[in-house]
Amino acid sequence: MVDDGSDSLRRGGVPKRRPPSQFARGATVTDPELRERFAREWPDCWAESAALLEWTEPYDEILEDDDAPFYRWFVGGRLNAAENCIDRHLEAGRKTQVALRWEGKRGERRTYTYHDLHREVSAVAAALCDLGVGEDDVVTCYLPKLPELPIAMLACARIGALHNVVFAGFAPDALVERMADTDSSALITCDGAFREGTAVDQKRKADAALADLEASIPTVVVDRLGSDHETRLGPDQYDYDALVERFDGADVPPVARAATDPLFHIHTSGTTGEPQRMTHATGGYLAGTAWTTRTVFDLSPGDTYWCTADLGWITGHSYVVYGPLARGATVVLAEGSLRYPDRHRPWELIERNGVEVFYTTPGVIRTFMKWGESFPAAHDRSSLRLLGTVGEPIGPDTWEWYYRHVGDERCPIVDTWWQTETGAVLLSTLPGLDEMKPGAAGPPLPGIEAQVVDSDGRELPPGEPGYLTLTKPWPSMLSPVEGDRYWVLAEYWQQFSDRRADTWRYFTGDRAVVDEDGYVTATGRADDVVTVGNRRLGTAELEAAITAVDGVTEAAAVAGSADGETDLYVFATAEQERTDRDALRGAIRDAVVERIGRFAEPAAVVFTPELPETHSGKTMYRVLEGVVDDERLEDTEPLRNPEIVGELETVWRSE
Ligand code: WTA
Repeated sequence: MVDDGSDSLRRGGVPKRRPPSQFARGATVTDPELRERFAREWPDCWAESAALLEWTEPYDEILEDDDAPFYRWFVGGRLNAAENCIDRHLEAGRKTQVALRWEGKRGERRTYTYHDLHREVSAVAAALCDLGVGEDDVVTCYLPKLPELPIAMLACARIGALHNVVFAGFAPDALVERMADTDSSALITCDGAFREGTAVDQKRKADAALADLEASIPTVVVDRLGSDHETRLGPDQYDYDALVERFDGADVPPVARAATDPLFHIHTSGTTGEPQRMTHATGGYLAGTAWTTRTVFDLSPGDTYWCTADLGWITGHSYVVYGPLARGATVVLAEGSLRYPDRHRPWELIERNGVEVFYTTPGVIRTFMKWGESFPAAHDRSSLRLLGTVGEPIGPDTWEWYYRHVGDERCPIVDTWWQTETGAVLLSTLPGLDEMKPGAAGPPLPGIEAQVVDSDGRELPPGEPGYLTLTKPWPSMLSPVEGDRYWVLAEYWQQFSDRRADTWRYFTGDRAVVDEDGYVTATGRADDVVTVGNRRLGTAELEAAITAVDGVTEAAAVAGSADGETDLYVFATAEQERTDRDALRGAIRDAVVERIGRFAEPAAVVFTPELPETHSGKTMYRVLEGVVDDERLEDTEPLRNPEIVGELETVWRSE
């Protein structure tokens, strides 16, 4: 029988796997009726997620939809996120349990018990108050993976200030933009960082950004480099350790926030190319992250958990800080590269810390695959109980390798689909109950409803690729502040909703396909956003940096995995008289590093006479992705210049 692919898409293609029985026997969620019950009792079912938290005031209403699609969850309730992540565990006898185990790049180790965490968070909270930070003010945190970063985030939460974490790899321009746009009243940064052994100056980047801001703001500087490196503090700049010492023992009562009050801002990339300010509300976000940490990651108080994500991205917020700490787990935080000092590091970390649940990206797993199975095989991984993946589609081969060589076929894999906007995982198997299908994320979680639709919003049958939409609100959903409502409506809600009928459908921006069992595979972005190493970048922001280079006329950036790793590739057109391609290439790289950051440096810059365009003049990214991934686009009908496809393949090959 000939299989043209659509049949296998419909059936789900690859064989299913049952959850390993050893895991299933001890799983936290064992109720096979959970999905049905949540569907039947929606939205009241979400009281179960709120019940995982401690509330200062109980809520009156689970979901208020008067102002849809700006839904409000747990209305009337009050709580404090830091209290939920720290204080209540002390009362529950977890004072001496380790909350945070940090391993530095140079082999340093630091552990914080819940008691230690309480003490330092309180001191930083008191220091922030002393610097004039109040409730609803915004504090930008520009720190690499140091314990001081989750501590700073929780200190903000304690006093009802919003944190705005900016990835430490961003350049000053990107930092300024994100600080200005959140009207930040304080900055927490560090002196520097070690990159593969050498010191990198972080404070210089922060100072460059501060100089560009209109008003001067207080800045707290963490000492990462130690006493060998002298750091000069300017006016209104404070040494973190000195502040912690000064405010040690401070008693800062947690501020009871309304459930609908914002907890933090975080920037993401959307179709406009400008970084977009996202906001999450305290109650719904915390309920959603705590609930999924329990149901998807099967994390119970006292379990040891390691997620490789940087705290500058949503994964670090939801599944390094808030979810696991709200559950009372022990969180491992590893600074620096997984290959430094050598490729044994990830497995040593798991072995040494007795990691039970491990969460990473397909890109990282592909790197492990490339290094070879001898590395995990050389270490005791018997503590591992569950594995997770996020950020991009994981192909069946990568899935199988992860399952076999990391989990020894004992650990279920949760392929979790979600976004900055969704706050928490929305599509995934329940690890003790659902069969796994390598390559497909899974069905919507209990209480979540998803549909794959065509461009007119009509639901598509299994096997037909379309756009991924969500037809019901969920607690950890985006909760835009007043000024963001207009673009949020346009970007996420307009396209597939019927406003007159007041039926709202959220558009994820993803392409996806669903199979006959309701398992969804998200196949990539439908909009002009690239995901590289689990970092979402707006192509417009990148392209603006590139076309600003003298001599470059047009540019398009795509993500591709030409070498097994997801990387960024740039296609550019140059002014005819510019024949110095290597110099231009260098200038493009420099511009990206300068304006966005080193992490976004393209793997290759390819010059082409023209970019592939639709009849309406939009760049067809799919053609470029096809060139990079060596997949020929069959349907060139939508192209204004179909002859460019062959030419692109030629220039690509000659690179
Ligand atoms: C993609 C990261 C396939 C998707 C949590 C989404 C995935 C974007 C998966 C969000 C997955 C995330 N399978 N694709 N399991 N998880 N994605 O906002 O395109 O950085 O829209 O959040 O990553 O990226 P973001």
